Amino acid sequence: MMDFKTEIQRRRTFGIISHPDAGKTTLTEKLLLFGGAIQEAGAVKNNKIKKTATSDFMEIERQRGISVATSVLAFIYNDKKINILDTPGHKDFAEDTFRTLTAVDSVIVVIDVAKGVEEQTVKLVEVCRMRNIPMLVFINKLDREGKDAFDLLDDLEQKLGLKVTPLSFPIGMGYDFKGIYNIYEKNVNLFSGDSKKNIEDTIAIDDLQSPELTTLIGEKAADTLRDDLELVNGVYPEFNKEAYLKAEQQPVFFGSALNNFGVRELLDCFINIAPPPRPKLAEERLVDSNEKELSGFVFKIHANMDPKHRDRLAFVKIVSGTFERNKPYLHVRQGKKLKFSSPNAFFAEKKEIVDISYPGDIVGLHDTGNFKIGDTLTEGEQLNYKGIPSFSPEHFRYINNADPLKSKQLYKGIDQLMDEGVAQLFTLELNGRKVIGTVGALQFEVIQYRLEHEYGAKCSYENFPVHKACWVDQSNNKTDEFKEFIRVKQKFLAKDKKGQLVFLADSSFSLQMTQQKYSNVKLHFTSEFD
Ligand code: G4P
Repeated sequence: MMDFKTEIQRRRTFGIISHPDAGKTTLTEKLLLFGGAIQEAGAVKNNKIKKTATSDFMEIERQRGISVATSVLAFIYNDKKINILDTPGHKDFAEDTFRTLTAVDSVIVVIDVAKGVEEQTVKLVEVCRMRNIPMLVFINKLDREGKDAFDLLDDLEQKLGLKVTPLSFPIGMGYDFKGIYNIYEKNVNLFSGDSKKNIEDTIAIDDLQSPELTTLIGEKAADTLRDDLELVNGVYPEFNKEAYLKAEQQPVFFGSALNNFGVRELLDCFINIAPPPRPKLAEERLVDSNEKELSGFVFKIHANMDPKHRDRLAFVKIVSGTFERNKPYLHVRQGKKLKFSSPNAFFAEKKEIVDISYPGDIVGLHDTGNFKIGDTLTEGEQLNYKGIPSFSPEHFRYINNADPLKSKQLYKGIDQLMDEGVAQLFTLELNGRKVIGTVGALQFEVIQYRLEHEYGAKCSYENFPVHKACWVDQSNNKTDEFKEFIRVKQKFLAKDKKGQLVFLADSSFSLQMTQQKYSNVKLHFTSEFD
Protein backbone atom coordinates (compact mmCIF):
# COMPACT_ATOMS: atom_id res chain seq x y z
CA MET A 1 0.00 0.00 0.00
CA MET A 2 1.39 3.36 -0.97
CA ASP A 3 0.80 6.20 1.41
CA PHE A 4 -1.57 9.03 0.61
CA LYS A 5 1.15 11.54 -0.36
CA THR A 6 2.89 9.09 -2.70
CA GLU A 7 -0.43 8.33 -4.38
CA ILE A 8 -0.97 12.04 -5.02
CA GLN A 9 2.56 12.67 -6.20
CA ARG A 10 2.38 9.93 -8.79
CA ARG A 11 -0.77 11.21 -10.45
CA ARG A 12 -0.76 13.15 -13.71
CA THR A 13 -4.19 14.32 -14.80
CA PHE A 14 -4.21 16.15 -18.09
CA GLY A 15 -6.06 16.91 -21.29
CA ILE A 16 -4.93 16.84 -24.89
CA ILE A 17 -6.22 19.76 -26.90
CA SER A 18 -6.03 20.50 -30.59
CA HIS A 19 -7.89 21.69 -33.61
CA PRO A 20 -9.76 18.71 -35.11
CA ASP A 21 -7.53 16.47 -37.21
CA ALA A 22 -4.21 17.61 -35.77
CA GLY A 23 -3.78 14.14 -34.31
CA LYS A 24 -5.18 14.21 -30.79
CA THR A 25 -6.85 10.81 -31.06
CA THR A 26 -3.81 9.22 -32.63
CA LEU A 27 -1.53 10.63 -29.96
CA THR A 28 -3.86 9.51 -27.16
CA GLU A 29 -3.83 6.05 -28.60
CA LYS A 30 -0.06 5.90 -28.80
CA LEU A 31 0.23 7.04 -25.20
CA LEU A 32 -2.11 4.24 -24.20
CA LEU A 33 -0.03 1.74 -26.15
CA PHE A 34 3.04 2.81 -24.19
CA GLY A 35 1.15 2.39 -20.98
CA GLY A 36 0.24 -1.14 -22.07
CA ALA A 37 -3.34 -0.05 -21.59
CA ILE A 38 -4.37 -1.15 -25.06
CA GLN A 39 -2.83 -3.74 -27.32
CA GLU A 40 -3.54 -2.36 -30.71
CA ALA A 41 -4.13 0.87 -32.48
CA GLY A 42 -7.70 1.75 -33.39
CA ALA A 43 -9.12 1.25 -29.93
CA VAL A 44 -9.65 4.91 -29.20
CA LYS A 45 -10.83 5.86 -32.64
CA ASN A 46 -14.47 5.31 -31.85
CA ASN A 47 -14.14 7.96 -29.20
CA LYS A 48 -13.90 10.55 -31.86
CA ILE A 49 -16.83 12.42 -33.26
CA LYS A 50 -16.15 12.04 -36.93
CA LYS A 51 -16.21 14.86 -39.40
CA THR A 52 -18.80 13.05 -41.43
CA ALA A 53 -21.15 13.10 -38.48
CA THR A 54 -21.63 16.86 -38.41
CA SER A 55 -25.02 16.68 -40.06
CA ASP A 56 -26.06 13.53 -38.29
CA PHE A 57 -26.73 14.27 -34.67
CA MET A 58 -28.03 10.78 -33.93
CA GLU A 59 -24.68 9.44 -34.92
CA ILE A 60 -23.03 12.01 -32.71
CA GLU A 61 -25.17 11.00 -29.77
CA ARG A 62 -24.34 7.38 -30.40
CA GLN A 63 -20.69 8.24 -30.45
CA ARG A 64 -21.05 10.34 -27.34
CA GLY A 65 -22.53 7.27 -25.72
CA ILE A 66 -19.53 5.23 -26.65
CA SER A 67 -17.31 7.96 -25.40
CA VAL A 68 -18.54 7.63 -21.80
CA ALA A 69 -16.08 4.83 -21.21
CA THR A 70 -13.32 6.76 -22.87
CA SER A 71 -14.06 10.12 -21.25
CA VAL A 72 -11.23 9.38 -18.88
CA LEU A 73 -8.40 7.15 -19.99
CA ALA A 74 -6.27 5.95 -17.14
CA PHE A 75 -3.15 3.84 -17.15
CA ILE A 76 0.09 3.31 -15.29
CA TYR A 77 3.37 4.23 -16.94
CA ASN A 78 6.68 4.06 -15.07
CA ASP A 79 4.83 3.93 -11.80
CA LYS A 80 2.89 7.08 -12.60
CA LYS A 81 -0.89 6.99 -12.68
CA ILE A 82 -1.87 8.82 -15.83
CA ASN A 83 -5.41 10.17 -16.24
CA ILE A 84 -6.13 11.58 -19.68
CA LEU A 85 -9.38 13.53 -19.78
CA ASP A 86 -10.93 13.43 -23.20
CA THR A 87 -11.83 16.78 -24.68
CA PRO A 88 -14.13 16.72 -27.70
CA GLY A 89 -12.43 18.43 -30.61
CA HIS A 90 -15.76 19.06 -32.37
CA LYS A 91 -16.47 22.78 -32.29
CA ASP A 92 -20.09 22.31 -31.27
CA PHE A 93 -18.92 20.69 -28.07
CA ALA A 94 -16.36 23.36 -27.21
CA GLU A 95 -18.22 24.16 -24.01
CA ASP A 96 -17.67 20.54 -22.86
CA THR A 97 -14.00 20.99 -23.49
CA PHE A 98 -13.84 24.27 -21.57
CA ARG A 99 -15.42 22.56 -18.59
CA THR A 100 -13.12 19.57 -18.80
CA LEU A 101 -10.20 21.99 -18.71
CA THR A 102 -11.29 22.97 -15.18
CA ALA A 103 -10.45 19.43 -14.09
CA VAL A 104 -6.98 19.01 -15.62
CA ASP A 105 -3.69 19.82 -13.96
CA SER A 106 -1.87 20.34 -17.24
CA VAL A 107 -2.39 19.97 -20.99
CA ILE A 108 -0.63 18.81 -24.12
CA VAL A 109 -1.38 20.92 -27.19
CA VAL A 110 -1.16 19.10 -30.53
CA ILE A 111 -0.31 21.13 -33.63
CA ASP A 112 -0.32 19.93 -37.24
CA VAL A 113 3.08 20.71 -38.76
CA ALA A 114 1.52 21.70 -42.07
CA LYS A 115 -1.36 23.76 -40.71
CA GLY A 116 0.33 25.37 -37.75
CA VAL A 117 -1.85 27.16 -35.23
CA GLU A 118 -5.55 26.80 -36.11
CA GLU A 119 -8.76 28.46 -34.92
CA GLN A 120 -9.78 25.96 -32.28
CA THR A 121 -6.24 25.81 -30.89
CA VAL A 122 -6.34 29.56 -30.32
CA LYS A 123 -9.58 29.36 -28.34
CA LEU A 124 -8.56 26.41 -26.20
CA VAL A 125 -5.07 27.69 -25.45
CA GLU A 126 -6.57 31.00 -24.42
CA VAL A 127 -8.72 29.23 -21.84
CA CYS A 128 -5.64 27.41 -20.54
CA ARG A 129 -3.64 30.61 -20.40
CA MET A 130 -6.39 32.35 -18.44
CA ARG A 131 -6.22 29.56 -15.89
CA ASN A 132 -2.41 29.31 -15.79
CA ILE A 133 -2.48 25.68 -16.80
CA PRO A 134 0.99 24.31 -17.61
CA MET A 135 1.17 23.45 -21.31
CA LEU A 136 3.43 21.30 -23.38
CA VAL A 137 3.28 21.44 -27.18
CA PHE A 138 3.60 18.50 -29.57
CA ILE A 139 4.10 19.37 -33.22
CA ASN A 140 2.76 16.41 -35.12
CA LYS A 141 2.97 14.82 -38.58
CA LEU A 142 6.66 15.48 -39.14
CA ASP A 143 6.59 12.66 -41.69
CA ARG A 144 4.76 15.12 -43.96
CA GLU A 145 5.90 18.31 -45.58
CA GLY A 146 5.10 21.17 -43.31
CA LYS A 147 6.12 24.59 -42.14
CA ASP A 148 9.63 25.44 -41.10
CA ALA A 149 10.26 24.61 -37.43
CA PHE A 150 11.29 28.16 -36.54
CA ASP A 151 8.22 29.58 -38.28
CA LEU A 152 6.06 27.23 -36.24
CA LEU A 153 7.73 28.30 -33.01
CA ASP A 154 7.11 31.94 -34.01
CA ASP A 155 3.50 31.07 -34.71
CA LEU A 156 3.12 29.60 -31.22
CA GLU A 157 4.48 32.77 -29.69
CA GLN A 158 2.55 35.22 -31.81
CA LYS A 159 -0.80 33.56 -32.31
CA LEU A 160 -1.02 31.75 -29.00
CA GLY A 161 0.96 34.13 -26.81
CA LEU A 162 3.17 31.30 -25.57
CA LYS A 163 6.78 31.53 -24.47
CA VAL A 164 8.25 28.45 -26.03
CA THR A 165 11.43 26.50 -25.63
CA PRO A 166 12.00 23.51 -27.92
CA LEU A 167 13.01 20.34 -26.10
CA SER A 168 13.45 18.42 -29.31
CA PHE A 169 14.21 19.48 -32.85
CA PRO A 170 13.45 17.85 -36.18
CA ILE A 171 16.16 16.67 -38.53
CA GLY A 172 14.63 17.32 -41.92
CA MET A 173 10.93 17.07 -42.65
CA GLY A 174 8.49 15.24 -44.90
CA TYR A 175 10.35 13.19 -47.49
CA ASP A 176 13.68 14.17 -45.94
CA PHE A 177 12.61 13.57 -42.38
CA LYS A 178 15.49 11.76 -40.71
CA GLY A 179 14.56 11.94 -37.08
CA ILE A 180 14.71 14.09 -34.03
CA TYR A 181 17.38 15.50 -31.82
CA ASN A 182 16.21 15.33 -28.25
CA ILE A 183 17.50 18.48 -26.58
CA TYR A 184 16.15 17.37 -23.21
CA GLU A 185 17.98 14.05 -23.19
CA LYS A 186 20.77 14.96 -25.63
CA ASN A 187 20.33 12.08 -28.02
CA VAL A 188 19.36 11.41 -31.59
CA ASN A 189 16.38 9.39 -32.55
CA LEU A 190 16.28 8.15 -36.12
CA PHE A 191 13.03 7.82 -38.00
CA SER A 192 12.33 4.42 -39.51
CA GLY A 193 8.78 5.04 -40.67
CA ASP A 194 7.62 1.91 -38.90
CA SER A 195 4.37 2.68 -37.12
CA LYS A 196 4.31 -0.69 -35.37
CA LYS A 197 7.52 0.01 -33.49
CA ASN A 198 6.92 0.47 -29.81
CA ILE A 199 10.15 2.05 -28.78
CA GLU A 200 12.66 3.61 -31.10
CA ASP A 201 16.39 3.21 -30.73
CA THR A 202 18.05 6.31 -29.50
CA ILE A 203 21.69 7.13 -29.90
CA ALA A 204 23.28 9.33 -27.27
CA ILE A 205 25.12 12.29 -28.77
CA ASP A 206 26.72 14.33 -26.03
CA ASP A 207 28.80 16.41 -28.37
CA LEU A 208 27.08 17.85 -31.39
CA GLN A 209 30.40 18.29 -33.13
CA SER A 210 31.15 14.57 -32.96
CA PRO A 211 31.74 12.83 -36.30
CA GLU A 212 29.27 10.19 -35.14
CA LEU A 213 26.44 12.61 -35.82
CA THR A 214 27.67 13.09 -39.37
CA THR A 215 27.92 9.34 -39.86
CA LEU A 216 24.40 8.88 -38.60
CA ILE A 217 22.51 11.49 -40.59
CA GLY A 218 24.90 12.62 -43.31
CA GLU A 219 27.00 15.75 -43.55
CA LYS A 220 24.38 18.10 -44.88
CA ALA A 221 21.73 17.20 -42.31
CA ALA A 222 24.32 17.24 -39.53
CA ASP A 223 25.48 20.73 -40.48
CA THR A 224 21.91 22.01 -40.69
CA LEU A 225 21.12 20.50 -37.32
CA ARG A 226 24.19 22.09 -35.74
CA ASP A 227 23.18 25.48 -37.16
CA ASP A 228 19.58 25.03 -36.09
CA LEU A 229 20.53 24.10 -32.56
CA GLU A 230 22.89 27.03 -32.32
CA LEU A 231 20.02 29.28 -33.26
CA VAL A 232 17.74 27.53 -30.76
CA ASN A 233 20.35 28.15 -28.09
CA GLY A 234 20.66 31.76 -29.03
CA VAL A 235 16.98 32.57 -29.36
CA TYR A 236 15.11 30.46 -26.83
CA PRO A 237 15.58 30.39 -23.09
CA GLU A 238 16.70 27.20 -21.43
CA PHE A 239 13.96 24.97 -20.20
CA ASN A 240 12.92 25.99 -16.71
CA LYS A 241 10.62 23.61 -14.90
CA GLU A 242 9.38 26.24 -12.46
CA ALA A 243 8.47 28.56 -15.33
CA TYR A 244 6.64 25.70 -17.08
CA LEU A 245 4.69 24.89 -13.91
CA LYS A 246 3.73 28.54 -13.53
CA ALA A 247 2.54 28.51 -17.15
CA GLU A 248 5.23 31.04 -18.03
CA GLN A 249 7.09 28.76 -20.42
CA GLN A 250 5.92 26.03 -22.77
CA PRO A 251 8.27 23.27 -23.91
CA VAL A 252 7.84 22.02 -27.47
CA PHE A 253 8.35 18.54 -28.90
CA PHE A 254 8.29 17.37 -32.50
CA GLY A 255 7.21 13.97 -33.79
CA SER A 256 4.74 11.86 -35.66
CA ALA A 257 1.98 10.29 -33.64
CA LEU A 258 0.89 8.04 -36.48
CA ASN A 259 4.37 6.58 -36.77
CA ASN A 260 4.76 6.49 -33.03
CA PHE A 261 7.75 8.67 -33.38
CA GLY A 262 8.83 11.17 -30.74
CA VAL A 263 5.94 10.03 -28.56
CA ARG A 264 8.03 8.20 -25.99
CA GLU A 265 10.25 11.28 -25.57
CA LEU A 266 7.16 13.37 -25.03
CA LEU A 267 5.70 10.95 -22.49
CA ASP A 268 8.96 10.44 -20.59
CA CYS A 269 9.53 14.14 -20.27
CA PHE A 270 5.87 14.76 -19.49
CA ILE A 271 5.67 12.39 -16.53
CA ASN A 272 8.80 13.98 -15.11
CA ILE A 273 7.85 17.60 -15.38
CA ALA A 274 4.04 17.69 -15.40
CA PRO A 275 2.46 18.66 -12.10
CA PRO A 276 0.73 16.25 -9.76
CA PRO A 277 -2.74 17.44 -8.65
CA ARG A 278 -2.55 21.13 -7.95
CA PRO A 279 -4.25 23.10 -5.18
CA LYS A 280 -7.62 24.46 -6.26
CA LEU A 281 -9.34 27.68 -5.37
CA ALA A 282 -12.80 27.41 -3.87
CA GLU A 283 -14.89 30.50 -3.21
CA GLU A 284 -14.04 30.10 0.45
CA ARG A 285 -10.33 29.22 0.33
CA LEU A 286 -7.48 27.49 -1.48
CA VAL A 287 -7.70 23.73 -1.03
CA ASP A 288 -4.51 21.70 -1.11
CA SER A 289 -4.55 18.21 -2.59
CA ASN A 290 -2.68 16.86 0.45
CA GLU A 291 -5.54 17.70 2.79
CA LYS A 292 -7.02 14.55 4.29
CA GLU A 293 -10.71 15.41 3.92
CA LEU A 294 -12.40 14.74 0.63
CA SER A 295 -13.43 17.53 -1.68
CA GLY A 296 -14.26 17.33 -5.34
CA PHE A 297 -16.45 18.90 -7.98
CA VAL A 298 -18.64 17.83 -10.87
CA PHE A 299 -17.22 18.96 -14.22
CA LYS A 300 -19.21 16.83 -16.60
CA ILE A 301 -22.52 15.01 -16.65
CA HIS A 302 -23.23 12.38 -19.19
CA ALA A 303 -26.70 11.13 -19.93
CA ASN A 304 -27.36 7.45 -20.06
CA MET A 305 -27.88 6.36 -23.61
CA ASP A 306 -30.76 4.12 -22.67
CA PRO A 307 -33.86 6.31 -22.87
CA LYS A 308 -35.74 4.02 -20.47
CA HIS A 309 -33.34 4.78 -17.68
CA ARG A 310 -32.92 8.42 -17.17
CA ASP A 311 -29.90 8.04 -14.93
CA ARG A 312 -26.77 9.89 -15.65
CA LEU A 313 -23.13 9.69 -14.84
CA ALA A 314 -21.64 12.66 -13.01
CA PHE A 315 -17.88 13.00 -13.37
CA VAL A 316 -16.21 14.23 -10.19
CA LYS A 317 -12.62 15.44 -10.06
CA ILE A 318 -11.13 14.72 -6.68
CA VAL A 319 -9.27 17.74 -5.38
CA SER A 320 -8.29 16.61 -1.87
CA GLY A 321 -8.65 13.59 0.42
CA THR A 322 -9.89 10.20 -0.67
CA PHE A 323 -13.21 9.25 -2.13
CA GLU A 324 -14.48 6.05 -0.56
CA ARG A 325 -17.31 3.80 -1.59
CA ASN A 326 -20.37 3.90 0.71
CA LYS A 327 -19.07 6.78 2.79
CA PRO A 328 -21.51 9.68 3.18
CA TYR A 329 -20.46 12.96 1.58
CA LEU A 330 -22.04 16.38 1.74
CA HIS A 331 -23.63 17.64 -1.47
CA VAL A 332 -22.90 21.26 -0.64
CA ARG A 333 -25.51 22.95 -2.84
CA GLN A 334 -28.31 20.70 -1.66
CA GLY A 335 -27.06 20.55 1.92
CA LYS A 336 -27.64 16.82 2.12
CA LYS A 337 -25.46 13.78 2.63
CA LEU A 338 -25.22 11.21 -0.13
CA LYS A 339 -23.62 7.77 -0.23
CA PHE A 340 -22.41 6.10 -3.39
CA SER A 341 -22.45 2.34 -3.53
CA SER A 342 -20.94 1.99 -6.98
CA PRO A 343 -18.56 4.79 -7.85
CA ASN A 344 -16.81 4.14 -11.13
CA ALA A 345 -13.15 4.52 -11.86
CA PHE A 346 -12.03 4.69 -15.44
CA PHE A 347 -9.39 2.68 -17.19
CA ALA A 348 -8.25 2.58 -20.76
CA GLU A 349 -11.37 1.11 -22.27
CA LYS A 350 -13.66 0.33 -19.40
CA LYS A 351 -15.02 1.55 -16.14
CA GLU A 352 -15.08 -0.39 -12.90
CA ILE A 353 -16.48 0.01 -9.43
CA VAL A 354 -13.76 1.30 -7.18
CA ASP A 355 -13.37 1.40 -3.39
CA ILE A 356 -11.00 4.32 -3.06
CA SER A 357 -9.83 7.14 -5.32
CA TYR A 358 -7.21 9.84 -4.78
CA PRO A 359 -6.74 13.49 -5.70
CA GLY A 360 -6.29 13.79 -9.43
CA ASP A 361 -8.59 10.85 -10.08
CA ILE A 362 -12.01 11.10 -11.65
CA VAL A 363 -14.91 9.11 -10.25
CA GLY A 364 -18.13 8.56 -12.14
CA LEU A 365 -21.23 8.66 -9.93
CA HIS A 366 -24.62 7.38 -10.99
CA ASP A 367 -27.10 10.15 -10.58
CA THR A 368 -30.82 10.49 -11.00
CA GLY A 369 -30.89 14.26 -11.06
CA ASN A 370 -29.03 15.44 -7.95
CA PHE A 371 -26.05 16.92 -9.71
CA LYS A 372 -25.38 20.00 -11.74
CA ILE A 373 -22.12 20.97 -13.29
CA GLY A 374 -20.01 22.77 -10.71
CA ASP A 375 -21.53 20.98 -7.67
CA THR A 376 -19.11 20.28 -4.85
CA LEU A 377 -18.84 17.24 -2.55
CA THR A 378 -17.07 17.46 0.81
CA GLU A 379 -16.97 15.72 4.18
CA GLY A 380 -19.02 18.52 5.70
CA GLU A 381 -17.19 21.74 4.90
CA GLN A 382 -19.00 24.46 2.94
CA LEU A 383 -16.82 24.67 -0.15
CA ASN A 384 -17.77 25.83 -3.62
CA TYR A 385 -15.25 25.39 -6.37
CA LYS A 386 -14.78 28.28 -8.72
CA GLY A 387 -13.81 28.28 -12.30
CA ILE A 388 -16.66 26.67 -14.19
CA PRO A 389 -18.02 29.75 -15.88
CA SER A 390 -20.51 29.76 -18.71
CA PHE A 391 -19.45 31.56 -21.85
CA SER A 392 -21.79 33.39 -24.16
CA PRO A 393 -23.51 30.92 -26.48
CA GLU A 394 -23.25 31.51 -30.22
CA HIS A 395 -26.79 30.58 -31.25
CA PHE A 396 -30.07 31.57 -29.63
CA ARG A 397 -33.64 30.43 -30.22
CA TYR A 398 -36.96 30.69 -28.44
CA ILE A 399 -38.09 27.28 -27.29
CA ASN A 400 -41.84 26.64 -27.47
CA ASN A 401 -43.94 23.84 -26.15
CA ALA A 402 -45.35 21.91 -29.11
CA ASP A 403 -47.51 19.57 -27.06
CA PRO A 404 -49.53 21.43 -24.41
CA LEU A 405 -50.37 18.20 -22.59
CA LYS A 406 -46.73 17.53 -21.94
CA SER A 407 -45.55 20.82 -20.50
CA LYS A 408 -44.43 19.27 -17.23
CA GLN A 409 -42.26 16.80 -19.10
CA LEU A 410 -40.90 19.56 -21.28
CA TYR A 411 -39.81 21.71 -18.37
CA LYS A 412 -38.32 18.80 -16.52
CA GLY A 413 -36.44 17.76 -19.64
CA ILE A 414 -35.15 21.25 -20.33
CA ASP A 415 -34.11 21.59 -16.72
CA GLN A 416 -32.14 18.37 -16.71
CA LEU A 417 -30.51 18.90 -20.08
CA MET A 418 -29.34 22.33 -18.92
CA ASP A 419 -27.88 20.77 -15.74
CA GLU A 420 -25.93 18.46 -17.99
CA GLY A 421 -24.55 21.52 -19.71
CA VAL A 422 -25.97 20.67 -23.14
CA ALA A 423 -27.00 24.31 -23.61
CA GLN A 424 -27.92 27.40 -21.60
CA LEU A 425 -31.39 28.58 -20.74
CA PHE A 426 -32.40 32.22 -20.45
CA THR A 427 -35.76 33.41 -19.22
CA LEU A 428 -36.78 36.81 -20.56
CA GLU A 429 -37.55 39.36 -17.87
CA LEU A 430 -40.31 40.96 -19.91
CA ASN A 431 -42.58 38.00 -20.59
CA GLY A 432 -41.01 34.87 -19.09
CA ARG A 433 -40.36 33.33 -22.49
CA LYS A 434 -37.58 30.80 -22.61
CA VAL A 435 -34.57 31.12 -24.86
CA ILE A 436 -32.00 28.39 -25.45
CA GLY A 437 -28.42 29.32 -26.22
CA THR A 438 -25.95 26.85 -27.67
CA VAL A 439 -22.39 26.77 -28.90
CA GLY A 440 -23.25 24.91 -32.09
CA ALA A 441 -26.42 24.79 -34.16
CA LEU A 442 -26.36 21.03 -33.80
CA GLN A 443 -27.38 21.14 -30.15
CA PHE A 444 -30.87 22.36 -31.03
CA GLU A 445 -31.50 19.10 -32.84
CA VAL A 446 -29.94 17.11 -30.04
CA ILE A 447 -32.20 18.83 -27.48
CA GLN A 448 -35.32 18.31 -29.57
CA TYR A 449 -34.50 14.67 -30.10
CA ARG A 450 -33.67 13.99 -26.49
CA LEU A 451 -36.74 15.83 -25.17
CA GLU A 452 -38.88 13.63 -27.31
CA HIS A 453 -37.14 10.31 -26.71
CA GLU A 454 -36.17 10.67 -23.08
CA TYR A 455 -38.94 12.87 -21.71
CA GLY A 456 -41.82 12.37 -24.10
CA ALA A 457 -42.05 16.11 -24.75
CA LYS A 458 -42.17 18.04 -27.98
CA CYS A 459 -40.66 21.43 -28.66
CA SER A 460 -40.36 23.84 -31.53
CA TYR A 461 -37.97 26.72 -32.03
CA GLU A 462 -38.28 30.28 -33.19
CA ASN A 463 -35.50 32.58 -34.20
CA PHE A 464 -34.28 35.03 -31.64
CA PRO A 465 -31.48 37.22 -32.90
CA VAL A 466 -28.83 37.65 -30.26
CA HIS A 467 -25.25 38.61 -30.89
CA LYS A 468 -23.88 37.96 -27.42
CA ALA A 469 -25.03 37.20 -23.91
CA CYS A 470 -23.37 39.44 -21.33
CA TRP A 471 -23.63 38.87 -17.62
CA VAL A 472 -24.56 42.05 -15.77
CA ASP A 473 -22.62 42.98 -12.66
CA GLN A 474 -25.29 44.03 -10.18
CA SER A 475 -23.02 45.40 -7.48
CA ASN A 476 -23.92 48.98 -8.45
CA ASN A 477 -27.60 48.35 -8.94
CA LYS A 478 -28.77 51.26 -6.79
CA THR A 479 -27.45 53.96 -9.12
CA ASP A 480 -29.72 55.95 -11.42
CA GLU A 481 -27.67 54.83 -14.37
CA PHE A 482 -28.26 51.18 -13.52
CA LYS A 483 -31.98 51.74 -13.05
CA GLU A 484 -32.21 53.48 -16.38
CA PHE A 485 -30.29 50.66 -18.03
CA ILE A 486 -32.80 48.18 -16.62
CA ARG A 487 -35.74 50.26 -17.76
CA VAL A 488 -34.51 51.02 -21.25
CA LYS A 489 -33.09 47.59 -21.99
CA GLN A 490 -35.86 45.55 -20.41
CA LYS A 491 -36.64 43.84 -23.68
CA PHE A 492 -33.11 42.47 -23.82
CA LEU A 493 -32.78 41.33 -20.26
CA ALA A 494 -33.06 37.77 -19.05
CA LYS A 495 -32.12 35.57 -16.14
CA ASP A 496 -29.83 32.61 -16.64
CA LYS A 497 -30.46 29.32 -14.91
CA LYS A 498 -28.74 30.42 -11.74
CA GLY A 499 -30.81 33.60 -11.63
CA GLN A 500 -27.98 35.87 -12.75
CA LEU A 501 -29.02 38.88 -14.83
CA VAL A 502 -28.00 38.71 -18.48
CA PHE A 503 -28.10 41.32 -21.21
CA LEU A 504 -28.79 39.79 -24.63
CA ALA A 505 -27.27 42.21 -27.11
CA ASP A 506 -28.83 41.89 -30.55
CA SER A 507 -25.81 43.17 -32.46
CA SER A 508 -22.23 44.11 -31.81
CA PHE A 509 -23.22 47.70 -32.56
CA SER A 510 -25.92 47.80 -29.91
CA LEU A 511 -23.53 46.17 -27.44
CA GLN A 512 -20.98 48.87 -28.09
CA MET A 513 -23.57 51.63 -27.79
CA THR A 514 -24.89 50.17 -24.56
CA GLN A 515 -21.41 49.94 -23.12
CA GLN A 516 -20.75 53.55 -24.04
CA LYS A 517 -24.02 54.91 -22.80
CA TYR A 518 -24.04 52.95 -19.53
CA SER A 519 -20.33 52.91 -18.89
CA ASN A 520 -20.76 52.21 -15.18
CA VAL A 521 -22.87 49.14 -15.75
CA LYS A 522 -20.30 46.38 -15.99
CA LEU A 523 -21.02 43.69 -18.57
CA HIS A 524 -19.04 40.44 -18.49
CA PHE A 525 -18.57 37.85 -21.18
CA THR A 526 -18.48 34.90 -18.80
CA SER A 527 -20.84 34.11 -15.95
CA GLU A 528 -18.08 34.18 -13.32
CA PHE A 529 -16.56 37.46 -12.31
CA ASP A 530 -15.34 39.06 -9.11
P1 G4P B 1 -7.92 14.47 -34.05
O1 G4P B 1 -8.23 13.48 -32.98
O2 G4P B 1 -7.03 15.57 -33.58
O3 G4P B 1 -9.09 14.99 -34.78
O4 G4P B 1 -7.02 13.74 -35.17
P2 G4P B 1 -6.75 12.21 -35.47
O5 G4P B 1 -5.84 11.62 -34.46
O6 G4P B 1 -8.00 11.50 -35.74
O7 G4P B 1 -5.91 12.38 -36.80
C1 G4P B 1 -6.44 13.01 -37.94
C2 G4P B 1 -5.82 12.42 -39.18
O8 G4P B 1 -4.40 12.68 -39.17
C3 G4P B 1 -5.97 10.93 -39.27
O9 G4P B 1 -6.08 10.60 -40.63
C4 G4P B 1 -4.65 10.41 -38.74
O10 G4P B 1 -4.33 9.13 -39.21
C5 G4P B 1 -3.70 11.45 -39.28
N1 G4P B 1 -2.44 11.55 -38.51
C6 G4P B 1 -2.30 11.61 -37.16
N2 G4P B 1 -1.00 11.68 -36.83
C7 G4P B 1 -0.30 11.67 -37.99
C8 G4P B 1 1.10 11.71 -38.30
O11 G4P B 1 1.97 11.76 -37.45
N3 G4P B 1 1.42 11.68 -39.62
C9 G4P B 1 0.48 11.61 -40.61
N4 G4P B 1 0.91 11.60 -41.85
N5 G4P B 1 -0.84 11.57 -40.35
C10 G4P B 1 -1.23 11.59 -39.05
P3 G4P B 1 -7.47 10.34 -41.34
O12 G4P B 1 -7.16 9.92 -42.72
O13 G4P B 1 -8.36 11.52 -41.15
O14 G4P B 1 -8.08 9.21 -40.49
P4 G4P B 1 -7.79 7.68 -40.56
O15 G4P B 1 -8.58 7.23 -41.72
O16 G4P B 1 -6.32 7.53 -40.74
O17 G4P B 1 -8.28 7.18 -39.27
